[in-house]
Amino acid sequence: VKTRDQYKQAAIEQWTADPCGSTVVEDIPGSDSYFRRLLQVRADYAPWMAEALDYKGAAGLEVLDIGSGQGIDLARYALAGARVTGVDLTPRHVALARVHLAGMGLDAVVVEGDAEQLPFPDATFDRVSSNGVLHHTPDLPCALWEARRVLRSGGLATVILYNRRSLHYWINQVFVEGFLKGGLRREGSMEGVLSSGVEHTSVGARPLVRVYCPRQARRLMMRAGFDKTRVVVRHFQPGDTFVTSYLANRTPALDSAALMERLGRLAGWYVVAYGRKA
Ligand SMILES: C[S@@+](CC[C@H](N)C(=O)[O-])C[C@H]1O[C@@H](n2cnc3c(N)ncnc32)[C@H](O)[C@@H]1O
Repeated sequence: VKTRDQYKQAAIEQWTADPCGSTVVEDIPGSDSYFRRLLQVRADYAPWMAEALDYKGAAGLEVLDIGSGQGIDLARYALAGARVTGVDLTPRHVALARVHLAGMGLDAVVVEGDAEQLPFPDATFDRVSSNGVLHHTPDLPCALWEARRVLRSGGLATVILYNRRSLHYWINQVFVEGFLKGGLRREGSMEGVLSSGVEHTSVGARPLVRVYCPRQARRLMMRAGFDKTRVVVRHFQPGDTFVTSYLANRTPALDSAALMERLGRLAGWYVVAYGRKA
């Protein structure tokens, strides 16, 4: 178990060494071709994100992306006509996001900062978005409170977290990694198992990785003061569990988009939490 600051340091080490998504794109981070490929890889990996994050509906709005990484969502919001700001803990990600958006001719403000202490005044943004970030930060309630603070009245927050009620978590993480491969014995907790295996790392960085039940995510949004909260579960691919991967290889009909969509909505790897500031 690490202190909060050690977890944040581990996150910086992780994404400095391995920019988020870089392992699936064979090109040089910072180049235009690399970023275009990264955008395509993300759209192929999670086509549902366009709808869940509602890039189109952000046209004309002031949008903050918390944990903006290499700038994938920043670019998508900006291409849809939003004025975008990104904040991230990892200086290398901040530098890459700036270069990537400039390379596409898109305006963006990207700053270094912590989700738990956002470097913006109250009521600065119309929309706050955070995709795959806040399950890595030690104090999620504080980060949600901050997200609400910087929103203007009537603004929407969309927060994507790893889902504890997912097939991927129970089958691949708990059963395979935890029990079969001895992760739970070695690490002593599922948090340890997740920290050592979920994010690809070339430097053994072990950032914090938590999972949240949909109900818990909704409750956390309510406790942070959000109104009209709701949650949806998304994302399933055959490779998400060894069982479906085995079956899909032998029975290609199982790898159907409609079936994956249904499984994703029942027990997908992401929970999307929404809330409005009254
Ligand atoms: C898995 S990446 C996701 C990046 C991006 N949202 C995307 O969709 O590609 C996680 C990101 O969260 C950032 N991060 C982790 N903890 C943070 C915190 N407390 N405040 C701000 N950013 C944080 C990391 O630096 C990293 O860029």
